[in-house]
Amino acid sequence: MKMLGLSGSLRKNSHNGRLLRQLKEHAGQGVDMDVFDAVADIPVFNEDLEGDATPASVRALWRAAESADGVVFATPEYNQALPGSTKNLLDWISRGPQVAQLSGKPVAVVGATVGMWGTRIAQQQLRTVLLTLGARVMPTPSLFLAKVAEQDADPVALAAFMAAFMAWTRPGT
Ligand SMILES: Cc1cc2nc3c(=O)[nH]c(=O)nc-3n(C[C@H](O)[C@H](O)[C@H](O)COP(=O)(O)O)c2cc1C
Repeated sequence: MKMLGLSGSLRKNSHNGRLLRQLKEHAGQGVDMDVFDAVADIPVFNEDLEGDATPASVRALWRAAESADGVVFATPEYNQALPGSTKNLLDWISRGPQVAQLSGKPVAVVGATVGMWGTRIAQQQLRTVLLTLGARVMPTPSLFLAKVAEQDADPVALAAFMAAFMAWTRPGT
């Protein structure tokens, strides 16, 4: 199974990027998870950049989303909201060559923060947008990673999350 990890953080030392790499490590046998590493190259969505003007970075994002069996979105939270950087990925994906690129696609939502509440608000807002795009968003389990500067993610919880997502992606396997 081919999975894609997408983080809304542009930071080199992003906790959300690290969380995706940790989930990749715990993805289990038979799961090939790519973490998209060119989010910082994706411009702010602009209809003037559609068609022939679409940058190579956006086309790479479209290819990655299209070829994945499922997508794990990791989002930071800024000022108790979904950051524009995460929403920007969704705006571009919604304009990919395949109509409704995430429609029916299994998607999981996670988030990491140095704060106390684990990106709960940003994740909820991200879920709302994903449902608008027709994604098949995994309802549970949740993964709210709080106080990441002080504590490491529990590897058992990471493995359990990925196992649940694989079951959500391929029911009955
Ligand atoms: C302007 C600003 C606002 C923030 N607001 C929140 C917030 O509302 N909730 C939260 O959990 N963390 C908040 N944070 C902390 C971020 O979660 C933290 O910077 C995190 O490391 C960002 O994710 P990243 O490491 O993947 O880049 C804020 C950080 C900044 C710089």
